Amino acid sequence: EKGGYDYFMLKEIAEQPKAVADTLLGRIDLAGNLCLDEVRIPASVLREVSKVVIVACGTAYHAGMIAKYAIEHWTRIPCETELASEFRYRDPILDQRTLVIAISQSGETMDTLMALRHAREQGARVLAICNTNGSTIPRESDAVLYTHAGPEVAVASTKAFLTQLVACYLVALYLGQVRGTKWGDEILSVIRELSEIATQVDEVLETMEPVRELARTLADKNTVLFLGRHVGFPVALEGALKLKELAYMHAEGFAAGELKHGPIALIEQDVPVVVVVPSPRGRSVLHDKIVSNIQEIRARGARTIVIAERGDETVAPYADHLIEIPATPTLLQPLVATVPLQVFACELATARGNEVDQPRNLAKSVTVE
Ligand code: F6R
Repeated sequence: EKGGYDYFMLKEIAEQPKAVADTLLGRIDLAGNLCLDEVRIPASVLREVSKVVIVACGTAYHAGMIAKYAIEHWTRIPCETELASEFRYRDPILDQRTLVIAISQSGETMDTLMALRHAREQGARVLAICNTNGSTIPRESDAVLYTHAGPEVAVASTKAFLTQLVACYLVALYLGQVRGTKWGDEILSVIRELSEIATQVDEVLETMEPVRELARTLADKNTVLFLGRHVGFPVALEGALKLKELAYMHAEGFAAGELKHGPIALIEQDVPVVVVVPSPRGRSVLHDKIVSNIQEIRARGARTIVIAERGDETVAPYADHLIEIPATPTLLQPLVATVPLQVFACELATARGNEVDQPRNLAKSVTVE
């Protein structure tokens, strides 16, 4: 049942190219238009949406954080992403023109379910992004876009996360397409690039041996820090979460721009810091800022583990370890940048003798609040 892998997690990491391709399947026509008729919210309603609110927990919340960047950029609709467990307790402002997106692999997470119930009581429309057919969250939503990751058995979410991202991009691009924005051309080209993503995830998986070797050398460390900017920030949070749950190590993710506001005090000799570097093409200002962040932490002794686009020569001199990923549009980079972090956490867990598929104290689906 583990298909020759030692752990379900390894199997599920390896299945990601297929999972991503399956989630795209049938949702883009030959002309490059999105066909999301299955999302039974009429285009006329989507055109009137004045605010998007995303609710989710854990890894799904990180997907939602990334979705915020995509939705605001491509649609210009204000979007907030909130932890489902915080949402209803602060009396959020919702109405008929609010589109709430609830993201959940299991479809049974109680916090997310309670958040969506609250949203519907206030008159908002709820779209679920879910991996489990017929589960409670999609049943209680106005519409659903299923991710086609297949069953995810390992407690730590991997392929579900990548497909949640794909689904979020599809929704963001669809909203952009339905409403018409100045990014029409960019939307078409991103849709084309999405079709390449499965191959690129596969390329990343082919090059993971050095990441596994590196992970094994860090098994006795107490702390690993993760830095990112823009969509690399939620990727950093996800890398840290994976490491906590699997390796039981102290791990924290930061927005790189926040370093000087506090976290830089944590940098001392030899502390491993994983940095997710945006493409040097595209929004190069993001790239240049993070290169100087890497220089700052390296000057203070950090051991830098840099995830950067292949051929990014400006950053290479500051990387103690360089993990190269394929070039993608800025907003899509999390689809390839997350994969090495999954492999890294899984390998560290193994090196520390932990139970990879069943981390201590955790359950696959959290059906209590
Ligand atoms: C992390 C992880 C959890 C889940 C969270 C939400 O690897 O698996 O953080 O992402 O409990 O679960 P779902 O997506 O089922 O609502």
